[in-house]
Amino acid sequence: MRVLSGIQPSGKLHLGNYCGAMRPQLELQAEHECFYFIANYHSLTSLNDRKLVEEYTREVAVGYLALGLDPARTVFFRQSDVPEVTELAWILSCVTPMGLLQRCHSYKDKIAQGLAPNNGLFAYPVLQAADILIYRSHLVPVGQDQKQHIEITQDIQGKFNQAFDCHVLVRPEPLIREAVAVVPGIDGRKMSKSYDNAIELFGGEKEAHKRIMSIVTDSTPVEAPKDPDNCNVMALLRCLASEDEVADWENRYRAGGTGYGEAKKRLFELFLDALGPARKRYDELSAHADQVERVLADGGQRARAVAAETMRDVRKACGLATVRG
Ligand code: TRP
Repeated sequence: MRVLSGIQPSGKLHLGNYCGAMRPQLELQAEHECFYFIANYHSLTSLNDRKLVEEYTREVAVGYLALGLDPARTVFFRQSDVPEVTELAWILSCVTPMGLLQRCHSYKDKIAQGLAPNNGLFAYPVLQAADILIYRSHLVPVGQDQKQHIEITQDIQGKFNQAFDCHVLVRPEPLIREAVAVVPGIDGRKMSKSYDNAIELFGGEKEAHKRIMSIVTDSTPVEAPKDPDNCNVMALLRCLASEDEVADWENRYRAGGTGYGEAKKRLFELFLDALGPARKRYDELSAHADQVERVLADGGQRARAVAAETMRDVRKACGLATVRG
């Protein structure tokens, strides 16, 4: 089974990224051949600033390595180090019905947020399909928000094989952990850098503490019973605490006598326990950008070899390879 996922470099990594995507992806390394890449071509759909593209790419690279991505096992690379993927995206765009892209939620959401409706944004899912199909990936671990993109990939894969009467592209399946609920930010909306409600993974300890202590709760007094299923602190505790500890907090909430402040304090401890070693490694790796660069360059070469093989078959299947027939 080949597992593949892409991460768009779009800002500082936060607890929502960690619990919702990074941790489950890293767990898959133990049992599968994983290809994880930094989707920097995709980031150009919303970022036209060299410094920021570079900075966010470094953030994702250092962050994944700090959290335990093992470059000896996992092929970890920059999307743009395999430029063939843009060639495949073009070819796929020629078998992609407009209607498929027009129905896309993420495009509509981004336009509603005020992003310029450029063609890259519209064609985003075609490039994503190319990312997945060029490595003949079987499983794509993603968050719930990416479900439609994977379905579009499946449609495009089917259309390509049908149009060119071949079996060159492999149908991928999404891997979505239903159990991973939406991770709330400190204001209770989905944690996202665009809402300024995120708890950064690798920011200052003081800042993390301040943010955790300012998580929005209702004003139920300490003595009163509380609803564990309707509390932002509890939702974040569920991301970081063991099952036993979660059950214990649920009981304490229901019984009353436990304040939200206490739960927040524990959450901060859990944050430092879970991320302490990674935070240290992040600082070390940040001081060795050349080492990180070497990892990505090596991953890029390994990925490119796989992509080149697929592209030989693709070019042949669509009549681009030769006039000899
Ligand atoms: N669209 C994905 C996101 O925003 C990132 C992405 C790009 C991706 N290409 C991919 C994810 C291929 C999975 C597979 O999260």
